[in-house]
Amino acid sequence: MADACFAHPRLAALYDPLHHGRRDLDAYPDMTEEFAARRVLDIGCGTGVFALLPAGRGIEAVGVGPARASLDAARAKPGGERVRWIHGDATCLPPLRAGLATMTGNVAQAIAGPHAWRETLRGARQALRPGGRLVFETRDPARRGWEEWTREQSYLVTEVPGAGTVEYRVELIAVDGPPVTFRQSYAFAADGQVLTSDSTLRLRERAEAERDLLAHGYAVEEVRDAPARPGRGLVFVARRP
Ligand SMILES: C[S@@+](CC[C@H](N)C(=O)[O-])C[C@H]1O[C@@H](n2cnc3c(N)ncnc32)[C@H](O)[C@@H]1O
Repeated sequence: MADACFAHPRLAALYDPLHHGRRDLDAYPDMTEEFAARRVLDIGCGTGVFALLPAGRGIEAVGVGPARASLDAARAKPGGERVRWIHGDATCLPPLRAGLATMTGNVAQAIAGPHAWRETLRGARQALRPGGRLVFETRDPARRGWEEWTREQSYLVTEVPGAGTVEYRVELIAVDGPPVTFRQSYAFAADGQVLTSDSTLRLRERAEAERDLLAHGYAVEEVRDAPARPGRGLVFVARRP
């Protein structure tokens, strides 16, 4: 089940305003050309911020995500009709033969459970054509990024078009080895409603991600530095042989 921050309509509508200026996505658009992908699959597409980019350049794009409210927001955006949106995860995809599959933002980390992670790697591989690439980002757990999130973004009062004034808080709940659990809360000044959303992320070290990719039949082609988080994040480029 998707976290409330993606699945609740009122919170899904806040995702883009609270995460604007997405420099982390800079790494992905050029990859469609780099890997000569004529079809792109965005796994965990959320509100469609990435899937809409290749679609706007005439490349066939498919976005899959488990949170219906986020998919509805994606579909309603300009150009949303150019993307094929699928409600679900990588285990429920039709045959696609995609040249590029992506998991942008925190998706690879949001798939925290070992079974769901294995099934995602398996499903993504099946959805790729031979020679197609799976690309995703993880943060290096050794850098203890959760301390940054909860310090830098721990409290914010912002005016959101259509929602009014929103008081937003992030607090760390638990660090259980690799899985990190945190709570986001949102207070709407317009009617006093307060909503909370708990999320668990699994930050994977380079060796762990490489081992999992190899175990699922990928060749690890390259591990790049994350452009928006130099030295703190890794972008994995894995190829279906
Ligand atoms: C931080 S958001 C990133 C959304 C989007 N990729 C972006 O860059 O804005 C994480 C997304 O992962 C999705 N997600 C969580 N579990 C998933 C799973 N098992 N399979 C696919 N997507 C999943 C959530 O619904 C959410 O939209």
